[in-house]
Amino acid sequence: MPFLCFFHSLNSKVLVRQRALFMVITLCLVYTLGHATVKSDDGKLLAPTPPMGWMTWNYFADNINEKVIMEMADAMVSSGMLKAGYNYVFIDDGWQGGRDNKNNIIPDSKKFPSGIKELADYVHSKGLKLGIYSDAAPLTCAGYTASLGFEEQDAKTFASWGIDYLKYDYCGAPEDVETAKQRYKKMGDALRRSGREIAFGICEWGQRKPWLWAAEAGGQLWRTTNDVRDKWKRKPTENSGEGIMNIMDVNASLDKYAGPGYWNDMDMLVVGLYGKKGPSGDLGGTGCTNTEYQSQMSLWSILASPLAATNDIRNMNAETKRILLNQEVIDIDQDVLGKQGILKVNNETWSIILRTLANGDYALAILNRSDSIQNTTINLSEFGLKSTYYIKDLWQHKVVAKGKKWSGSVNSHETKLFRLKKID
Ligand code: GLA
Repeated sequence: MPFLCFFHSLNSKVLVRQRALFMVITLCLVYTLGHATVKSDDGKLLAPTPPMGWMTWNYFADNINEKVIMEMADAMVSSGMLKAGYNYVFIDDGWQGGRDNKNNIIPDSKKFPSGIKELADYVHSKGLKLGIYSDAAPLTCAGYTASLGFEEQDAKTFASWGIDYLKYDYCGAPEDVETAKQRYKKMGDALRRSGREIAFGICEWGQRKPWLWAAEAGGQLWRTTNDVRDKWKRKPTENSGEGIMNIMDVNASLDKYAGPGYWNDMDMLVVGLYGKKGPSGDLGGTGCTNTEYQSQMSLWSILASPLAATNDIRNMNAETKRILLNQEVIDIDQDVLGKQGILKVNNETWSIILRTLANGDYALAILNRSDSIQNTTINLSEFGLKSTYYIKDLWQHKVVAKGKKWSGSVNSHETKLFRLKKID
């Protein structure tokens, strides 16, 4: 198109004069560059598969600093997390130190004495990307400086630091959906104009059904629930504090809103936290068993959620590594078809989810929700799968059955995650 414009112009009489030709070429160049920007502004390219990484909040809350983040970046590489696909370090709330005399947002100089740009350079030098956090109100959830009214300026600042992702929270903002749409779009547009590709994570906790509007506001992912706590499920006596089951139950019905570039964000993984500390330990977050953590990883993956680990990855035990670094499970989460799994069975005992994969395989998750071990037989034809399949257990890393059905036992709160490959 820009080149057509060039040749058209070349034929016109005006262009015999050199100055006019120069102007046309300049205009064509401006058009080409502008067009290229629009193209690279395409949100779909920013998160073709669900973003993966490690996030500061659940373990450290706002007790963060550049030393810890550099150590985590090192650990992302040495532990194999980066190699497995966790390529973001997400700084959450608590990095901010107010604004300078030109109203530029600045980091806390005690926590980040070298500045965020230098930290971003370090993180990038490890092959990782850097995420940061702000809020669509004057102050963030933890009471730090936020971005309302400074969207353009802050987006440019983030871009100048080399930020690759913004989590944008909603504490201190009005309840209504229209204001939320406007405030998120304002920041979404500002990010697109910032001169850098910055993915945009919308975090208003699902309260205004962001799956209906967040993509239009420029988001690539949107939280669907309140904050995850380090627990299996909310007790009947608790009216707050989401457990793994509470989040899975909300998300499992939102499959039609996810796809390449746009994801239902089930919030952070609590795998490996063991109720030790941090905000995920509040509101009944006393910790989960390894079986339950394995279920979280299975369910988040089959439901195509972003995967943000939050445990101390500098010191992971063997079980935590086994769960977070299971490449076959990560491959389900990151499948390029981008189809979130569909809930096929949901009752007091069982949740069964089926996900179609890019190469024609399927992923099947079988969750025992009950408090006791259960035996079952799953006939694949019940889910419309008419062929015969190799049924590979992705936690055992072996084919456990061949044919049209699987029979076996599932422990309480365990999720079996299978990959089904058609037998030719
Ligand atoms: C909210 C968000 C959390 C975290 C905190 C930080 O609660 O939902 O994920 O970012 O704020 O203050």
